[in-house]
Amino acid sequence: MYSLLIKPILFSLDAEYSHDLTLSNLNRIPSIFFPKTIHAPYECMGLNFPNRVGLAAGLDKNGAYIDALAKLGFGFIEIGTITPRPQAGNPKPRLFRIPSKKVIINRMGFNNEGVDALISNVKRAKFDGVLGINIGKNKETPLDKAADDYIFCMNKVYTHASYITINISSPNTPDLRKLQQADYLHNFIAEIKDQHLRLADKHKAYKPLVVKMSPDESEETMQAIAESLLKNNIDGLIATNTTCSRQGLTDEHNKDEAGGMSGELLASKSSTVIRMMHEFLDDKIPIIGVGGIVDVDYAKQKIDAGAKLVQIYSGLIYQGPSLVTKIASALS
Ligand SMILES: Cc1cc2nc3c(=O)[nH]c(=O)nc-3n(C[C@H](O)[C@H](O)[C@H](O)COP(=O)(O)O)c2cc1C
Repeated sequence: MYSLLIKPILFSLDAEYSHDLTLSNLNRIPSIFFPKTIHAPYECMGLNFPNRVGLAAGLDKNGAYIDALAKLGFGFIEIGTITPRPQAGNPKPRLFRIPSKKVIINRMGFNNEGVDALISNVKRAKFDGVLGINIGKNKETPLDKAADDYIFCMNKVYTHASYITINISSPNTPDLRKLQQADYLHNFIAEIKDQHLRLADKHKAYKPLVVKMSPDESEETMQAIAESLLKNNIDGLIATNTTCSRQGLTDEHNKDEAGGMSGELLASKSSTVIRMMHEFLDDKIPIIGVGGIVDVDYAKQKIDAGAKLVQIYSGLIYQGPSLVTKIASALS
């Protein structure tokens, strides 16, 4: 039904408009039209996942659609990226599809309503499954003060999240990816971990802390990331965010738009990163594999590369919601 009826309509509209339209109408569709959540329990990071397929960050930045998205059968949902203060993001248009390659290019720039708005939404939601909250920094916060923004958000979301993701890999916030480089990374992660342990103690509840990385880093940087995660007892790694590469695109409309590319052309790049990080981490920290999963085989490729869980975003846009249960049963 999605490919035949819904997708042609949505793809005839502006990408961001159709995205907002879909999310705001998802709630109106009765649950009987959605397949039952696949029950294939999986334990990871001390959390119990009903299945191994999650929603990647960025689709529901403010956590405004959690209950609607839960109907799609995800084993976990990640909301955000959220920043301390609301921000508008980059000027529109900032979201582009390339359907012939099942690719999306976005330069949203952490458009969000701020952490307090997200918390109100989470409080209102009835969802009681695994909820990740992905946090970032405001655009104008300088890099040497970035940890303050992450700590501000972490303090606020701690009791509301099942796990917390430190996003240092968006290509659309100037210089953000520099936080992944050894000169910044070690102190930055140590500072956040320190506060994380304080929060665990204060609330007498341990919420796993996860880092999300980019697929565009050198082997040296990947090694530095692995070292930092191991040294600071980080609980998980999400690999990967979108890429700045345009490999695989030739003369498609929109191919020269600035931003991060996601979808099928990201798949092998992100799987290579997962394979290398799995080796550098010596299988001591679980990896959530994301990037280009547009069918079951790509999800299996992530698991073969060393991922324990997977997340999807672009695949949902191109293949529709049935992809969630297809992958969840294939990985069960
Ligand atoms: C429009 C759009 C917005 C995104 N926003 C975020 C974000 O706010 N935070 C984040 O960590 N990742 C964000 N992502 C990256 C996705 O979570 C995911 O890592 C990436 O798209 C690769 O997965 P995919 O190929 O399945 O889409 C965004 C992706 C897209 C397409």
